[in-house]
Amino acid sequence: MSDKIDSAQAFEQIARARHSVRGFKNDAIPQQQLENIFELAQTAPSNCNTQPWHVHVVSGDKLEVLRKELPQVLTRGEFSMDFPYAGKYQGLYKERQYDAANQLYTAMAIERADRAKRDDAFARNFTFFDAPHVAFLFIDEEFGVREAADIGMYAQNLMLALTANGLASCPQTALSFNADKVRELLDIDKQQKLLFGLSFGYEDSEHPANRCRVGRAKLSETTCFHN
Ligand SMILES: Cc1cc2nc3c(=O)[nH]c(=O)nc-3n(C[C@H](O)[C@H](O)[C@H](O)COP(=O)(O)O)c2cc1C
Repeated sequence: MSDKIDSAQAFEQIARARHSVRGFKNDAIPQQQLENIFELAQTAPSNCNTQPWHVHVVSGDKLEVLRKELPQVLTRGEFSMDFPYAGKYQGLYKERQYDAANQLYTAMAIERADRAKRDDAFARNFTFFDAPHVAFLFIDEEFGVREAADIGMYAQNLMLALTANGLASCPQTALSFNADKVRELLDIDKQQKLLFGLSFGYEDSEHPANRCRVGRAKLSETTCFHN
């Protein structure tokens, strides 16, 4: 088998293996391995190679402070998002949103009508699903949609690098609900704006949330080949 086929198969395996994980073991990743993975993530392309990502990786005692403080976003209603988020999708997008949520709550044996349990499951976002690490992804204040797309590419590179290293992750808009608090606790300049966070570590394969695997639309629904 040629090297070319090997790498195509390896990539397919990694891309299909990545999924959002919402239950982690608490084992920390060694610092050198973390640096290797974040260095690899930086190979992402960006407009004019501007590399507009500011990445703040939090672990250890600092993370425990955040784990204590961030849930208060919900309990005290402390919202300060840098980018507006209505969270309300229409039509096809609404169907996909419902379907993904249903699959997650079914995996967790939570009834749709059980508001309290759904709220508890959602609140786990703010304690990073027990992960030992989180990365917060920021862009500079003057940037917009183009640079946000660059951050998306960076984030996917990062998630695939984690998967390739036997690790798991969950990208989380929820972690941007109180951007002021994150900036305050990590002493980050107000000029950096928070897009989302990403919890990561080793998957706890026993956690019911991790039984959830959502599918994708048919290729013909999203992609048009013009000849
Ligand atoms: C930018 C972004 C933000 C997301 N925010 C959240 C979040 O706040 N909480 C959560 O549990 N999942 C979040 N997700 C995960 C999506 O629900 C998930 O990617 C989608 O359902 C597809 O599932 P998969 O990642 O397992 O393939 C987010 C994903 C992306 C790309």
